[in-house]
Amino acid sequence: MRAPLMLALVLGFALVAALPAQDSKVEPTTFVLALPVAGLATVDATPNACVDCHTQRGEVDFRLSTRLGAFTMGAPDKVMRKARATVPDRELGGWHPAIKPVSFQNIPASCLRCHRQDSPNAPPFSRLIHVLHLTEESFTRQVGGGCGSCHKLDSATGQWSIPSAAEK
Ligand code: HEC
Ligand code: HEC
Ligand code: HEC
Repeated sequence: MRAPLMLALVLGFALVAALPAQDSKVEPTTFVLALPVAGLATVDATPNACVDCHTQRGEVDFRLSTRLGAFTMGAPDKVMRKARATVPDRELGGWHPAIKPVSFQNIPASCLRCHRQDSPNAPPFSRLIHVLHLTEESFTRQVGGGCGSCHKLDSATGQWSIPSAAEK
């Protein structure tokens, strides 16, 4: 069961890594091999994953409640281009359904209720969230994001998990 999954992952990452290498201005992406696992080598800057980055900082409101609120009137083209590519066999309308405020008390668990692997309409979260972050310089460089920003390793048991928490 694991082998095809890992193969798909390796291929997926190889593609992601190959794209920037075409552009001489952009150095080859190194996150594929340099996977900072926060909390082990360094201090974990995002122990609660999503909600530790998606905050309000001064004028910039990066909270997911604000972002998704705006998406109910139409998500940005860049987001839709990426979202549609993750589900080529489906039609996405380009508007996010309005979601209950209580959902923002538990991110990403509440998102995953709709964005399940077998969801008929919401793009499965794994592909969607990976493509929205790992292909963005703003994530990989500006904030130094990596796998460990979301995936936390329990170094005693070897179990990976994604913490879920309330928006700040
Ligand atoms: C280390 C910081 C960090 C963490 C952790 C993080 N994000 Fe992000 N997120 C970003 C950055 C940076 C972007 C890219 C913004 C851009 O397009 O330049 C982004 C983009 C997004 C977008 C695209 C919408 C938009 O505003 O453009 C969504 C949705 C999103 N993140 C959800 C999540 C979810 C859900 C999680 C947890 C599973 C998460 N993020 C974890 C930093 C983070
Ligand atoms: C009630 C179900 C539901 C919940 C809860 C939900 N989503 Fe969605 N989401 C959807 C559906 C359905 C779509 C496809 C919308 C379309 O056709 O464009 C979608 C699409 C998206 C997209 C692609 C852009 C778009 O508007 O199509 C992003 C990004 C996204 N969701 C992020 C999130 C995040 C982050 C959360 C949790 C804070 C979340 N969603 C919670 C149902 C949900
Ligand atoms: C911004 C948050 C975020 C980052 C960064 C991130 N992931 Fe994920 N990852 C997720 C989410 C959300 C899921 C879906 C969890 C679910 O469906 O229960 C997921 C699922 C997975 C899965 C299982 C499903 C699948 O797609 O096969 C693997 C393996 C995985 N991630 C590996 C990685 C690796 C390796 C990296 C770094 C190169 C990484 N992730 C970076 C959020 C993230």
